[in-house]
Amino acid sequence: MSTSKGKFITFEGIDGCGKSTQVKMLVEAMNQSGVKTILVREPGGTTISEEIRDILLHRHLADICDRTEALLMTGSRAQLTYEVIQPNLIAGKNVIADRYYDSTLAYQGGGRKLDLDWLIKLNQFATYDLEPNVTFFVDVLPEEASRRKSKEKDRIERAGTELQARVRNAYLNLANRFHERFVVINGHDSTENIHGTILTELRRRKLFS
Ligand code: ADP
Ligand code: TYD
Repeated sequence: MSTSKGKFITFEGIDGCGKSTQVKMLVEAMNQSGVKTILVREPGGTTISEEIRDILLHRHLADICDRTEALLMTGSRAQLTYEVIQPNLIAGKNVIADRYYDSTLAYQGGGRKLDLDWLIKLNQFATYDLEPNVTFFVDVLPEEASRRKSKEKDRIERAGTELQARVRNAYLNLANRFHERFVVINGHDSTENIHGTILTELRRRKLFS
C-alpha cells in the first residue's frame, strides 16, 4: 500500500487497563486542536469485522480453538486495515486504534502460547505491513484491571487473571523487543496524568504539536 500522511497511534494493554478511556481523551484532544483524527477499535470497526467480533467474544462461547481465534482476530484486522485505517491515513487523518496487531502477539502468543514469529508473519500479511508510528502500552497489574472490569466480562476476559498475567508479560517482552515503537505507561496513575504523559511523548516524537 502507498505512503501515509496521517499518524497511526495504537493503544495496548490487558482488559480493563484503562486504554479505551485514554483513546477517547486523545481523539478529543487531537480533534480540538484541529488535527482530523478517527478512532478504531479491535476486533471490529467494519461490518465484516464487527460480525467476526461477535463470533469471537459473544457467540460460540467456549469452542473456538486457539488457531481459529488467531485467524479470526487477524481476519478482522485485515478488513479494518484495508477499509478504514489505510485510506484515512492516506487522506491525511490521524488514526488512533484501541488495540492493533500487538494484541494478537500478546493474547494469542503470550496468552494462548502460539508461536510468536509465526503470528508476526500472519500480522504482516493481514495488515499489508502497516506499522504504527507509536504504541502506548498501558500497564496495570491483572488484579487491578479485573477490579476495574468487574461488571460484564466477555469470553476472553472470563478466562481469568492467569491468562491476563501471561498477556501482561508478553506485552512487557514486546515493549522490550520493539523498544523504539513502544512506550510503557504506568496505568495505575490517574487518567489525567496518563493523558498528560501521552501528549508529552507524542510531542517529543513530533507526532502532535
Ligand atoms: P480498557 O479499554 O482497557 O478495557 P477502560 O478504559 O474501559 O479500559 O477502563 C476500565 C474501567 O476503569 C472504567 O470503569 C474506567 O472508568 C476505569 N479507569 C480507566 N482509567 C483509570 C485510571 N487511570 N484509574 C482508575 N480507573 C480507571
Ligand atoms: P474488548 O471488549 O474490546 O476489550 P477491551 O475493552 O479490553 O479492549 O475485547 C477485546 C478482547 O479481545 C480482549 O479480551 C482482547 C482480545 N483480543 C485478542 O485476544 N486478540 C486480538 O488480536 C485482539 C485485537 C483482541
